[in-house]
Amino acid sequence: MSSEQAPQSPTAQGLDPKALAYSLSLPHDRRLYRYDIACSLAHIRMLARQGIVPAHEAQAIARALEDIRAEMESGAFPFRDELEDIHLNIEARLYEKVGEAAGHLHTARSRNDLIATDLRLFVMDACRQAAAAVRRLQRAIVDQAEAHLDAVMPGYTHLQRAQPVLLSHHLMAYFWMLERDRGRLLDCRERADELPLGSGALAGVPYPIDREFLARELGFSRISANSVDAVSSRDFVVEFIAAAATCLVHLSRLAEEIVLWAGPEYGFVELPPQFATGSSIMPQKRNPDLAELARAKAARVSGHMAAMLALMKGLPLAYNRDLQEDKVPLFESADALLATLDVFADMLPALRFRRERMEAAAADPFLLATDLADYLVRKGVPFRRAYQAVRELVAYAQAQGRGLRDLSLEEYRRFSPHFAEDALTLDARGAIEARDAPGGTATRRVREAIAMARKLMEEKA
Ligand code: ARG
Repeated sequence: MSSEQAPQSPTAQGLDPKALAYSLSLPHDRRLYRYDIACSLAHIRMLARQGIVPAHEAQAIARALEDIRAEMESGAFPFRDELEDIHLNIEARLYEKVGEAAGHLHTARSRNDLIATDLRLFVMDACRQAAAAVRRLQRAIVDQAEAHLDAVMPGYTHLQRAQPVLLSHHLMAYFWMLERDRGRLLDCRERADELPLGSGALAGVPYPIDREFLARELGFSRISANSVDAVSSRDFVVEFIAAAATCLVHLSRLAEEIVLWAGPEYGFVELPPQFATGSSIMPQKRNPDLAELARAKAARVSGHMAAMLALMKGLPLAYNRDLQEDKVPLFESADALLATLDVFADMLPALRFRRERMEAAAADPFLLATDLADYLVRKGVPFRRAYQAVRELVAYAQAQGRGLRDLSLEEYRRFSPHFAEDALTLDARGAIEARDAPGGTATRRVREAIAMARKLMEEKA
């Protein structure tokens, strides 16, 4: 490259057009522009402070970088595909603005430490945003749980009605899943919080740079300890996608329940019109498309996690161009996670739970079979024997097509002499209140859990 003119692409000169198109990352990495410019601003200030670049030239560069940022924000920036990526686009534009002085910016750095820094900043922001979005959804869940403390539903195992629970207790299960998801996101942020800039291409740089200054300027709390590791590690990306996939898998379980519950077979929930779509052919339909899409996002992001691990596997040190392919998995995972959390946080408060349908389903007396066994245990019968007696009692009723309520006390006693009149008065509400051990579904315990959740959200906002 002649010293008189602005560089085309310092790396892609003379590249075959198809090769260039194949290696282009601009369509993806242009969204990193804010981070990239922040890195360049910090870097040029540092170079001037350290006397590596003359102050007046550094100032001109800084001003031009701010102009460039404004151009990008307004959409006026002339992006050029032939310049490969966001870094070279910014650098070429800088030449157009300040001429030869622009060449100072790439002193003591490389695109390898630059992209690693951009990405860490992106991940740290995404973790923060996702953690806040998780909180918003958690609030919606706790509000619904609190509003439905009196609603009884069948709890399920194997998708078979198992034992009655409070709807609130069921909903709060998602609060705790999300709390762990939030913890994973914050852990990920914590590990991403390490500055690679100043590592150069891989070996470090031969200038008296101040990496602590760079870290402070960019909001990192520490600097990386090994330049080879700094430019070639993407485990923070793997971790982010893993955390996103786990959270989306949790949301997909909630989504699946919404899908099931919104159908006429369950009829437990009514989708508000603003969150249900019609069918283009069947006028009666109100489809849970958003919940279905959330299931699909969980699938996509799980795939991104596998892709990212495969990308890293066996990759020799240090930087390899393979690493450029981390952008799509990372960005799509972040977008899917944030969008899903956001939609769910809006949809949850708008769900109308149909208590009467849930209660009717929970009133199935066979759901009290465990309670009948527990009843016998309270009369001194060992649990396994009590279990057997109730099992036979249930089989007897089912063989005759009768429910547990249709049997007489005399019939109950055929299976255990310990049954008395009060055995016939067990009901779903009683079964719920009896489960009073910590973590159980008794109203008192659920109320406690809701208070605990509110306190937790207040303390760790
Ligand atoms: N576009 C590249 C990436 O995303 C930037 C780093 C390029 N480094 C290089 N040695 N080709 O990874």
